[in-house]
Amino acid sequence: MLITPSILNANFLDMAGEIDRVSSAADWLHLDVMDGHFVPNLSFGPAMVEAVNRHSDLPIDVHLMIANPEEWVNHYVEAGADRISFHYEATKEWVEIARGLKSKGIKPGLAIKPGTDFNEVKNLIREFDLLLIMTVDPGFGGQKYINEMTHKIFLAREFISENGLDIHIQADGGINLETINDAFKAGADVFVAGSVVYKSENPAQTIQNLRNAVGG
Ligand code: DX5
Ligand code: ZN
Repeated sequence: MLITPSILNANFLDMAGEIDRVSSAADWLHLDVMDGHFVPNLSFGPAMVEAVNRHSDLPIDVHLMIANPEEWVNHYVEAGADRISFHYEATKEWVEIARGLKSKGIKPGLAIKPGTDFNEVKNLIREFDLLLIMTVDPGFGGQKYINEMTHKIFLAREFISENGLDIHIQADGGINLETINDAFKAGADVFVAGSVVYKSENPAQTIQNLRNAVGG
């Protein structure tokens, strides 16, 4: 299992220090890009991705919560993203974007909101390295895990196994020491952790505690 802390709830005035606080324990760094349009919040753009990439050796895991990702995705490639997930609901150019990213050596991810059924995307996911299942409504950190999403994770893992596919399932939103277990047992293997990590006294230890909660 992999843990990718979201810097959305970090102290933006000390981003270098905030990254250093998780680096020894994190697998990837999750960067939540919001455009104030696809979601009702603004966060940051390619300049932050570039700065974080310059500071850290960890893989940069960008989550685009933006409209028309096809118009913006290359800015994030140039900024140094290693993986880029964009929303199913934000475009129709799923396959073109995924193939374009792969041709540049970037791992593509398809993200789905809580209201989107797995069935809608199941025939698309083979184009992707990762399926990001939102376990809260996108837009803000610190929300409560939506329990009904556990079943969606289960259905996705079942489909991926039955079809012999090799695709990560990333659970994003409301992950903490309890909810990580539900998502893990249902079949998620990558976990975004935002507020639980950055609101704790010792972020690296909290990441370790999340690992221990599911047995490693
Ligand atoms: C929500 C973001 C999440 C969020 C995670 O729109 O995509 O990545 O920052 O934060 P927590 O763990 O606090 O829900
Ligand atoms: Zn995210």
